[in-house]
Amino acid sequence: MIPAEAGRPSHGVTVAADARTARKPHLAVVGATGAVGTVLLGILSARADIWGEIRLIASPRSAGRKLTVRGEEVEVAALSEDAFDGIDVAMFDVPDEVSAQWAPVAVSKGAVVVDNSGAFRMDPDVPLVVPEVNAHAARVRPRGIVANPNCTTLSMIVALGALHAEYGLSELIVSSYQAVSGAGQAGVDTLRAQLSAISGTELGSAPGDVRRAVGDTLGPFPAPIALNVVPWAGSLREDGWSSEELKVRNESRKILGMPDLRVTATCVRVPVITTHSLAVHARFENEVTVAGAHEILASAPGVVVSDDPAEGEFPTPSDVAGTDPTWVGRVRRSLDDPRALELFVCGDNLRKGAALNAAQIGELVAAELGG
Ligand SMILES: NC(=O)c1ccc[n+]([C@@H]2O[C@H](COP(=O)([O-])OP(=O)(O)OC[C@H]3O[C@@H](n4cnc5c(N)ncnc54)[C@H](OP(=O)(O)O)[C@@H]3O)[C@@H](O)[C@H]2O)c1
Repeated sequence: MIPAEAGRPSHGVTVAADARTARKPHLAVVGATGAVGTVLLGILSARADIWGEIRLIASPRSAGRKLTVRGEEVEVAALSEDAFDGIDVAMFDVPDEVSAQWAPVAVSKGAVVVDNSGAFRMDPDVPLVVPEVNAHAARVRPRGIVANPNCTTLSMIVALGALHAEYGLSELIVSSYQAVSGAGQAGVDTLRAQLSAISGTELGSAPGDVRRAVGDTLGPFPAPIALNVVPWAGSLREDGWSSEELKVRNESRKILGMPDLRVTATCVRVPVITTHSLAVHARFENEVTVAGAHEILASAPGVVVSDDPAEGEFPTPSDVAGTDPTWVGRVRRSLDDPRALELFVCGDNLRKGAALNAAQIGELVAAELGG
């Protein structure tokens, strides 16, 4: 058995310090068959090969399936306590309740968990990390868990963190245009099925005609998503807010270390497969200029400015899908407020919004472990 971390219990096996630091850390991907897991395997195959074994784990339904990572076929194992034997870092891309139950098991077996679910994000003993904004937070993890923010917050926070560092953020008003893959593989399957059902028809101009055509194939959405926009993402919370809207507020505050930041979000689902877009009104302590914002954003790691409306240049999900950066366009100073900027931001919700950010956190942890 391989010890998890220098200085931590090593499951009863003593290994010389140089042997510990010489080997590459072993990684488990829990939820390897899902929407985020699938993208993560591609990202792990393309980034620097810092991992020893990469073990793939999913539900018993998927046990025995073969998936490709780093060019090799790997058999999927069913989630169990033994599946974490010898694992140093476990990335969880599973529903909240599965992470809530199994992340502590992985920690008890000696792994550091990087969790993509919402189970631990607001736990004060779990850091919520975006490496470009608060990488330092990943080093302090009392529960052995580092949380990955939700995809909507992640799709904008790298750009906003850079502007905050210069101008001092005081308020965010966000409207999201969220892709169906944010609701997992089931969301993607639903949009594709509905598009097939309406393809070649004249539907979309009479009340309820799309709803009748798609029938009971609403999938994870409360209304038809093809030829539609749906002002709802997540579950119902107090006073009419959706869980997704509260996540944007709470998680932005935690990542930026600003517990009193004023944040309002309205989250809307749109018929886009992958890449969330956000229209952001950001107010700052100091006066802003468009030229200054362009300069800050253009030099921020992980941000690309695409902002020349005269040439039809601005980010759109269909151009951004499959890319790593946060794309920013339509930068304007608010007409009635010299301290506020209007921005349109796009980010691939499965890459920086989920798998890429987790891979980056995993790399920070691996570097600590000597990987
Ligand atoms: N989609 C996004 O944009 C996004 C962004 C950020 C965070 N997240 C979060 O990431 C997590 C995964 O999301 P997703 O979109 O990838 O979901 P998904 O496509 O539905 O995939 C879920 C994964 O979890 C596995 N799983 C489900 N129940 C399990 C169980 N009881 N034991 C073991 N494995 C189980 C599934 O395995 P089987 O295939 O065997 O069922 C599958 O690999 C969720 O917590 C989600 O909120 C998603």
